[in-house]
Amino acid sequence: MQYFINMTRWLLGGSVLGGAIFLGFYGISQQAQAENEGSYGRSALPTSAVYSAECGACHMAYPANFLPKASWQLMLGQLDNHFGDNAELSQANKRIISDYLLQHAADTNGLWQNPRLMRRMEGTPLRITETAYFLRKHDEIPQRMVKGNPEVGSFSQCNACHKGAEKGLFNEHTVSVPGYGRWDD
Ligand code: HEC
Ligand code: HEC
Repeated sequence: MQYFINMTRWLLGGSVLGGAIFLGFYGISQQAQAENEGSYGRSALPTSAVYSAECGACHMAYPANFLPKASWQLMLGQLDNHFGDNAELSQANKRIISDYLLQHAADTNGLWQNPRLMRRMEGTPLRITETAYFLRKHDEIPQRMVKGNPEVGSFSQCNACHKGAEKGLFNEHTVSVPGYGRWDD
């Protein structure tokens, strides 16, 4: 029994210490993130020539770290019916693109991981524009600037407003709504 109590105390003590160390690291990583404000996550996203060419043919090549791995896998499994279009790829390019997306997805451990998006993630969305994080960040932008704006058309056109979108850069210095200019809130 005595042994058991000591063991419990040791484990509890360990977890308090572990928690303190964890919070320490968390503080440092939050600080690093703040210094690199606007890049998702802490560094620009590496790009891929094959991905940019194939998945940037009809719309911009969306930043891989704006959906989790499971979403990219689901999407790549049904490219013959991709939002009503056929976006099927050769086996070789599909493998390259799959590797790229899974290595740079929002829920990887890379520098580009996107914890702010993942914190509010629910289910396996196929649209970035339907994620809770995206909706919250854009809820103050009126429709006349989007649907009613011939230079934008829909929120799916990230690069119409965000000049660094393909590298995953979305900070306030690179956002400007066409026809309306810099966004001040
Ligand atoms: C043949 C044209 C075409 C190609 C090629 C294509 N897409 Fe799409 N994609 C679309 C259309 C159309 C939509 C829906 C756009 C809309 O609703 O405005 C879409 C939407 C998307 C969205 C959702 C955007 C949002 O609203 O959040 C993602 C993510 C996406 N595509 C990823 C990809 C990936 C990854 C590839 C490469 C494997 C790819 N697309 C290739 C036509 C294409
Ligand atoms: C109509 C223009 C427009 C489009 C299209 C658009 N955004 Fe934005 N976005 C904005 C504006 C304006 C803000 C700043 C909102 C604010 O600060 O209140 C913003 C903010 C953001 C932020 C938060 C930046 C931060 O550091 O707080 C992210 C991330 C983002 N957008 C990603 C995207 C992605 C990904 C897409 C495409 C799927 C997209 N946006 C499409 C206008 C747009």
